Amino acid sequence: MIGKLFRNARIFTPIDRGVPLAGKNQGQVASFERGAVYVHNGVIEMVGPESQIMDSIKTRQVDLEVDCRGLCLIPGFVDCHTHMCFADLREDEFELRLAGADYLEILRKGGGIHSSVRAVRRASEEELFAGTKRRVLRALGFGTTTLEIKSGYGLDTETELKMLRVIARVGRETVLDVVPTFMGAHAVPGESAGNPDDYVRLVVEEMLPRVRTQGIARFCDVFCEAGVFSLEQSRRVLLAARDHGLGGKIHADEVNDLGGARLAAEMRTVSAEHLLAAGDDNLRAMAGAGVIGVLLPGTAYSLRKKLAPAGRMRDLNLPLAIATDSNPGTCYTESMPFVFGLAVMNTHLSPQEALVAATLNAAYAVKMEKTVGSLQKGKRADFLLLEGRGPAVLAYHAGVSPVVAVYKRGELVAGSG
Ligand code: NIG
Ligand code: FE
Repeated sequence: MIGKLFRNARIFTPIDRGVPLAGKNQGQVASFERGAVYVHNGVIEMVGPESQIMDSIKTRQVDLEVDCRGLCLIPGFVDCHTHMCFADLREDEFELRLAGADYLEILRKGGGIHSSVRAVRRASEEELFAGTKRRVLRALGFGTTTLEIKSGYGLDTETELKMLRVIARVGRETVLDVVPTFMGAHAVPGESAGNPDDYVRLVVEEMLPRVRTQGIARFCDVFCEAGVFSLEQSRRVLLAARDHGLGGKIHADEVNDLGGARLAAEMRTVSAEHLLAAGDDNLRAMAGAGVIGVLLPGTAYSLRKKLAPAGRMRDLNLPLAIATDSNPGTCYTESMPFVFGLAVMNTHLSPQEALVAATLNAAYAVKMEKTVGSLQKGKRADFLLLEGRGPAVLAYHAGVSPVVAVYKRGELVAGSG
């Protein structure tokens, strides 16, 4: 039994009342100017003004007391959308895009996701693990304590299962909570070119049953996009995933408005991602169906695309999360502070809205809200110390991470406590 007291901190946290925060409540953050957190065996027992906490713990055991020196204390980031399990970098492709080449055109010509597929198929399980773990630990240093990782660079049954094993092992062998997502429907692989329906059949009839038997994945995602998977094909994948007990996610309307947001509403997926091109009616349907909109402002940055219509999304009462989309193609970063800065400066979320988007709402987007996402009694003691007066420093200190300490279950796991 270990009791730890963290005091003299400027605490900022969303309050979880059982639903993701949306619309006018998107930026609802509680704060304690001079606050304290009492942690017992890695779980939060009390959060509040320091004077009050000191009073309540008089009879409790305190094995360790940490003076947070007036630093800002926020929940650990939940990066709810990444493709961090990969084996190659695609700098050449990045430069081609800088010179004007189009992302989907590169994909059509066998580059993009297909380059990553070739590299992942070639890589041994050990190599794939080592690279993924390195990136995941880098993310931890930037304050990510819970992380979703998708498969989707295998595109054949054995390699997809290999990726999911690697993702599960990263969860076992690091301190982070890792949420594995099966994304066999990330692209139509070269060997099925011209026969996307055959490939969808493979995903539905062979991969999904094997993925279910393997028992690692919690969600299934699909890339619904012109030239990738149509609305109808995406629906088939999501329906089958549901039959196999996996939660649904969808890369929707990233480049073209195919109606992916509408499908997310129809299927009541837990989230829909990107949404740069999504129309108002479909966003409204999503909000009505309780689907979380996951904004990936780093991808808009790297693709030089217009930004997600966050203002309209707020008006439509759509709960918003933000994530890195960390991948070697459209957004090569492990940094939530970078994405937080973009969400504030480019997408025009307030720092409070971005904080909720990066913690509580992101936890909902991976169904981890019962254990992480806010600083409340009963949740894991996952939190960060920031050098600054409030979460706005994540946008203010541009290009630099203000995260100076990362605590996971009450243990210092990165930075300098
Ligand atoms: O979210 N859009 C599809 N998937 C990723 C990119 C993957 C890649 O290019 O490797 C995305 O942007
Ligand atoms: Fe993605």
